[in-house]
Amino acid sequence: MAEEVGIERIADYVGEEVTIKGWLYAKTGKGKLQFLQVRDGTGVIQCVVFKKEVTPEVFEDARSLTQESSLIITGMVRADERAPGIPGGHEIGVSDLNVVQCVTEEYPITPKEHGIDFLMQHRHLWIRSSRQWSALRVRATVIKAIRDWLDSQGFLLMDTPILTPAACEGTTTLFETDYHGTPAYLSQSGQLYNEANIMAFGRVYCFGPTFRAEKSKTRRHIQEFWMVEPEAAYVDLWENLKIQEQFVSYIVQTTLRERQSELESLGRDVSRLEKIEPPFPRIHYDEALEMINRAAAKGTTVPPEDEPLPAIAWGDDFGAPHETYVAEQFEKPVFVHHYPSQVKAFYMAQEPERPETCRSADLLAPEGYGEIIGGGERSSDLEYLERQIERHDLPREAYEWYLDLRRYGSVPHSGFGLGIERTVMWICGLQHIRETIPFPRLLGRIYP
Ligand code: 4AD
Ligand code: MG
Repeated sequence: MAEEVGIERIADYVGEEVTIKGWLYAKTGKGKLQFLQVRDGTGVIQCVVFKKEVTPEVFEDARSLTQESSLIITGMVRADERAPGIPGGHEIGVSDLNVVQCVTEEYPITPKEHGIDFLMQHRHLWIRSSRQWSALRVRATVIKAIRDWLDSQGFLLMDTPILTPAACEGTTTLFETDYHGTPAYLSQSGQLYNEANIMAFGRVYCFGPTFRAEKSKTRRHIQEFWMVEPEAAYVDLWENLKIQEQFVSYIVQTTLRERQSELESLGRDVSRLEKIEPPFPRIHYDEALEMINRAAAKGTTVPPEDEPLPAIAWGDDFGAPHETYVAEQFEKPVFVHHYPSQVKAFYMAQEPERPETCRSADLLAPEGYGEIIGGGERSSDLEYLERQIERHDLPREAYEWYLDLRRYGSVPHSGFGLGIERTVMWICGLQHIRETIPFPRLLGRIYP
């Protein structure tokens, strides 16, 4: 009996007979030779069926196979540099083939071009296509790298609730639901709970789905996304940035090492990612603003649509073109710190020397990918937070427990949230966030 192996490990079996279980991805044939591109979930490999080497029944099965038919193949592994596939470089000389299901209807996703609506409507099948498959394999590795790094650095995993009584990131993007007669909201962030958790455990992180009822369609926003949120006691803004640059560098370098063939199949130019290592540049909001306005005055345009960069006033938040422009000035991700308090959430610590600014920082990814991390130092000042809750028009009762954290053993502390989909989008070099999660929740679409 041949050993059953996954295509991603095929290089270890050259000269041996193996069995693979998968699906027909594509096929070309001429006369006595049939070339089957077979995928098994771990990769794609070329399987060569030569009429002389199989029974007439097997050859006929191979000849009549249709796209996405499921099959079990046995054959000899050969190294061949020219063989296509993911990772490529090997093929199987087929000795036996067993059709599990021969697809009789035409498979909806053919090698021709399809519109995005059609593909999204068939997302349950689209994920089998090599680009989608590659991006989702990268996603899994990004997530594993995140967990490995945080676990190894003494951050303890703490799960935070998904049903919550109050907003963390402003009331305009809340998804409301009914909690036995009381309104509740799907979590926008686990941060506030993690601020409680660190006073018990020191360093923690939560990692879960988060929800934002984003009312506009952009390439970078989805309604349901996954966020990892580390939080640490006795860490100030600057130490927080050091943690972030090490964390992000580890994620990028691990993915480059472990997902080479997927990134290659996505056509990603990895040379820019290879440079991602600490330290990352840090610029003050004031500096970023000056940079933007200088460029705007010269009529600078920004990719991908070459739209003009709009000038902004002090106190304005950055839009996508501003983030793109600032990030373009650097090879590595850049921290923009000390945003005006008025554009950030209520919990941000005030900067004592510049009280109109806060000890926040966003990390902007290069190549136009924009903000991948939002974070900062949290206010530990009870009275300031009481005023902020009022100023942001938040219901005080819902935050009473949060204020307790400033009454009993308050300490300086910081944290951040990294968006998984934005990070995967950047690492894979994708144009749209919808390809970074198996079943994206987009404005106006909840099927499949
Ligand atoms: O900047 P945000 O809103 O920060 C927070 O939620 C903090 N409470 C995190 C913390 O400090 N613990 O979101 C953090 C990140 C963004 O930088 C972005 O990567 C991602 O979450 N993000 C989204 N990703 C996709 N679609 C959306 N609608 C997103 N909104 C935020
Ligand atoms: Mg943000």
